Amino acid sequence: MQLHHSLSLALSILRMAVRATSLPYLNVTAVTHAGGESVLQCWQLPSPFAVSASPGVANGSYAFLGAVANATLTVIPARSEGGRHYAQPQWVHFVTGLAHITLPTASDAAWIRGGKYGLLWAGDTPDRSRGGHSTYYWEESVTLALMMPDGEEPAHRVVRQGACLLEDLVGMAGLGVRDCVECDDLKGPQGGYGQVNTPI
Ligand SMILES: *[C@@H]1O[C@H](CO)[C@@H](O)[C@H](O)[C@H]1NC(C)=O
Ligand SMILES: *[C@@H]1O[C@H](CO)[C@@H](O)[C@H](O)[C@H]1NC(C)=O
Ligand SMILES: *[C@@H]1O[C@H](CO)[C@@H](O)[C@H](O)[C@H]1NC(C)=O
Repeated sequence: MQLHHSLSLALSILRMAVRATSLPYLNVTAVTHAGGESVLQCWQLPSPFAVSASPGVANGSYAFLGAVANATLTVIPARSEGGRHYAQPQWVHFVTGLAHITLPTASDAAWIRGGKYGLLWAGDTPDRSRGGHSTYYWEESVTLALMMPDGEEPAHRVVRQGACLLEDLVGMAGLGVRDCVECDDLKGPQGGYGQVNTPI
């Protein structure tokens, strides 16, 4: 009993230590520009997720997205054609829904599913992109757009050309999973772990 107790305590400490040193970097699909046209890229932010010390977010993992200027919440009906357009530099978080982003000059496309993996960067301004991009909303979508002041782009590293792939996002899956040895008593009503979205 004593041994079991100290063993599980050691395990929890180890897990906390591993967690503290191995939080992933945030990768995000970017509708950006290259060679005078809109392109899709997968970007990585310069700092990894960190454990929050802010009251109210209960030790959640956070990624700082920078100072933003204006925030707009939009509800878009299902099967809406957003049309060909340009984007002033902004973060767009798809809260719910399903959107399909296509380009006039390339066969690349991005599917953005609202929720935990629903963050997108858009910044193909008309002075940097001839053709812009198109967005089609398959499902009713709620988006939260956060404009960057002075048209700034976030510091980033290009992980790959094209939208982020599953392997670029899968590190998010572990965030929000409860960090404990015996979690059975913490299972939610559907028997799964609480699917609490990380606040942004
Ligand atoms: C946050 O983590 C600290 C240190 O592990 C712990 O003492 C505290 O109870 C945690 N807070 C919540 C709300 O889980
Ligand atoms: C924010 O909104 C104000 C008022 O509409 C506008 O003047 C300003 O240019 C906007 N800033 C950005 C970065 O979009
Ligand atoms: C971001 O990409 C890196 C590899 O470039 C990967 O190790 C990491 O887990 C990814 N982050 C997320 C949140 O999936």
